[in-house]
Amino acid sequence: MNLYERIPNNVNLSDDKRLQRALEKWLPNFLSWWHDMGPDGFQEKDVWLRTAIDVGSEGWAHFDYVKMPDYRWGIFLEPAQKDAKVGFGDNYGQPAYQEVPGEFRNALRRIIVTQGDTEPASVEQQRLLGHTCPSLYDMRNLFQVNVEEGRHLWAMVYLRHGYFGRDGRDEADALLERRSGNPDKPRILEAFNQPCDDWLNFYAFTMFTDRDGKYQLSALAESGFEPLARTCRFMLTEEAHHMFVGDTGLSRVVKRTAQLMKQSEDVREVDGIPLDIIQKYINFWFSYSLDLFGGEISSNSADFFAAGLKGRFKEQDQYTDHIAAEGSFTMPVVENGKLASREVPLRNALNEVLRGEYVKDCEKGLARWNKALADEGLSDRLYLPNIRFHRHVGEYAGHYFDLEGNLITKEEFEQKKSEWLPTMEDREYVGSLMKPVTEVGKIANWIAPPTSGIKGKPFEFEYVRL
Ligand SMILES: [Fe+2]
Ligand SMILES: [Fe+2]
Repeated sequence: MNLYERIPNNVNLSDDKRLQRALEKWLPNFLSWWHDMGPDGFQEKDVWLRTAIDVGSEGWAHFDYVKMPDYRWGIFLEPAQKDAKVGFGDNYGQPAYQEVPGEFRNALRRIIVTQGDTEPASVEQQRLLGHTCPSLYDMRNLFQVNVEEGRHLWAMVYLRHGYFGRDGRDEADALLERRSGNPDKPRILEAFNQPCDDWLNFYAFTMFTDRDGKYQLSALAESGFEPLARTCRFMLTEEAHHMFVGDTGLSRVVKRTAQLMKQSEDVREVDGIPLDIIQKYINFWFSYSLDLFGGEISSNSADFFAAGLKGRFKEQDQYTDHIAAEGSFTMPVVENGKLASREVPLRNALNEVLRGEYVKDCEKGLARWNKALADEGLSDRLYLPNIRFHRHVGEYAGHYFDLEGNLITKEEFEQKKSEWLPTMEDREYVGSLMKPVTEVGKIANWIAPPTSGIKGKPFEFEYVRL
C-alpha cells in the first residue's frame, strides 16, 4: 500500500509512469472541482473521517481528524484472485480479461462512464447540506459520504485512464465538466439531476439511490473484466456506510415523528415532519432510483451478460446456471392500453431481475421503519409504491399508474399527484425545519438521535471541529 504517495494506491502506480503522470495531471482538476462543487463551507474544518489505508477485511478504515481537501483520495482494488475466470455469459470459464477486450470496448466504456458519472453528481447534489445539519454526527456522516463518492470517482477515473487510452482521458475530464441539474450539461442519469437540498431528501437519497449503487456495483463486482470487478468489490465496502446513513436517518426521522404525533394531532405544530410527507419522499426517491436499473426489456443487459461484463446479484453464490441462455422471464407490460403479461428471454430481463433484488432489500428498510412506528405504539405504516409508479425509464415510462400499480389516465394522475409526490409546499415546510444544530451532543427537534455514535465514539462527540 503506497499510502503516502501523491495518489495513494495499491496498484503499483509508481511502476507505470505514463499512468501516474496522467493521473497526476488529473489531480489538480479534481481538486478544483472539489473546491467549486464539493461541500460548501467547512473545507478548512477538521472532520473525524475514516480513510482507506488497507483493503483487507481487518482495519481497512482508519479514523482521524482530516480537513476534507487533505483527504487521501486513492486507488484501491481488492487483491487479484489467482486464476480468475469469467464467471458467466458466453465466455464462461475462460480466463478473466485483464485488458479491455476489443469487441467489448464500447460496452465497457459505457458501463464505466455511466457509473463514474454518478459519483461526482451526488456530491454536487449534496453540497449545501452542511449548512443545515441536524447534528455534528450527521454533518460528519454527510462529509464521509461526500469524500467517499469523490474516491469512487477516482476509482472509475483510474479505469478510464488505465485501460482506455486517449478517449479514456477525455472522458475522465468530462466527468468533471457535467453538472448535476444543469440543463446545458446535465449528469447522465435523471436521479442525479434531482435536487437533494434538505436532510429528508439526503436520507431518502442515501437509502434508495445509494442502494441502487450497491446493486450496480455488485453486478459489476462479478465482472469478467478483472480490474473493474476488483475496483467495485472495494467500493462496496464504502457503499455500505452510505446506505446505513440513509436507512438509520429515515428510521430516526420516523421515530421522532411518532413521538411528536403523541404530543400533538398535527406534528407541524410541534415542528415535526408528518408521516405523509415522509411517504411522499419515499415515493419520489424510490421511483427515480428504480429508473437507474434501466429498461425492463433490454438488449444491453443481454449483451453485457453475454460478454461476461455485468452479472447478476451474487452471480456466483446464488445461481448454478451461469449461461442463462435458455430461461425466460414474465413481466407485465402495457399493451393496447392495458397491462398484459409478456415473456422475454431471461438475458433480456436482467435489469428487471436486478431491480427485483433491490426492491427486496428496500422492503427490509421499510420493515425497520415500521417497527419504529410500532415501538412507539402507532398503527400507521409506511410502504413502497408499486414499481410501475412514477417511472421515467423503461416499459412503464409514458404511462400513468397509481401507488398500487393500476394503470390510470394522465388526468387521474395529475389530480392525485400532490397526494403522492412532494409538493412545493411540502418541500418548503421541510426546508423551514432545516436549521443547523452544531453544538456537541445536541440534535434538531425533527429527528431522534442515533442509538450509538461512530466507531465506538458516543453521539456526544465533537465529530466536526467548527
Ligand atoms: Fe459511490
Ligand atoms: Fe454511495
